[in-house]
Amino acid sequence: MPAKPKVLVTRKLPPVVEARLARDFDPSFNDDDHIFSAEELVARAADADAIMPCHTENLSAEVIAALPDRLRIIANFSVGYDHVDVAAARDRGIAVTNTPDVLSDATAEIALLLMLGAARRASEGERLVRSGNWRDWSPSFMVGRQMTGKRLGIIGLGRVGSIVAKRARGFEMEIHYHGRHRLPAAQEAGAHYHERLEELLPVCDFLSLHCPATPETKGLMNAERLALLPDGAILVNAARGALVDDDALIAALMEGRLAAAGLDVFNNEPAIDARYAQLENTFLLPHIGSATQETREAMGNRAIDNLSAFFSGEEPLDRVA
Ligand code: 8YV
Repeated sequence: MPAKPKVLVTRKLPPVVEARLARDFDPSFNDDDHIFSAEELVARAADADAIMPCHTENLSAEVIAALPDRLRIIANFSVGYDHVDVAAARDRGIAVTNTPDVLSDATAEIALLLMLGAARRASEGERLVRSGNWRDWSPSFMVGRQMTGKRLGIIGLGRVGSIVAKRARGFEMEIHYHGRHRLPAAQEAGAHYHERLEELLPVCDFLSLHCPATPETKGLMNAERLALLPDGAILVNAARGALVDDDALIAALMEGRLAAAGLDVFNNEPAIDARYAQLENTFLLPHIGSATQETREAMGNRAIDNLSAFFSGEEPLDRVA
């Protein structure tokens, strides 16, 4: 029997996922779940045929250049793969896969939570109750913004964005979107397409970001674009922090031009710009878009399906390079 492929698993995964890996592969686990430095990642990969990383590992061109020749696939435990230098992997003939679809519902839930949390001042209210300083009630106390019936702009009506739209219709929201291409009518489901982002922004009471982080989308929401949102708009981001220019967003929130922001993702996680936490009009979560038991197991299984297909000589379902 041929030896089982050696798989370097960079973070602690759900027990059922690690059990399946142990059954079908020769895995090396990270029992204390620390984050590998680039040096440790390369050292641990020295005898590996595959790596199963999370977005917490930066597989830069330098790291990829230092991987052994036997390393044939990077099977990400994530849908986003902006932490992998895909071109460098392709140049070395290393396959790259991701885990789409299985985390769309969970991430869409978090986008809705961000919208509600930001609009209804949930962090502020929670802090007040927990602090023991809640003294009074009045008709003007903690008044926020209503979500029902408002206009929701979505950048990227893809896997996650289209579920956000579907759930938002339950709040009678009017859906607008921008993407590279207009979608067929069945997928649009009544959403209004804006060919140019600059045309979408002025009609967004709420704006939710659902596009990947790429060199083209880095800093997408900059000062000029934020200024095109209506006064009092609410921005939420459950995609990637890199889509937002922090200085510009913080300035808009401080000046009250934006009513609030709900953020689950940030530049430079977890050492985020400290000003976000000082603002009352932010609702902040620690990158938990896909953090449900069901979804994390499904992500692990999807990554293993990709590994199994690859080492059986088949084309992995989710090959991105
Ligand atoms: C994951 C995510 O938790 O899959 C993604 O792209 O952003 C998250 O939901 C994380 O990336 C796992 O590596």
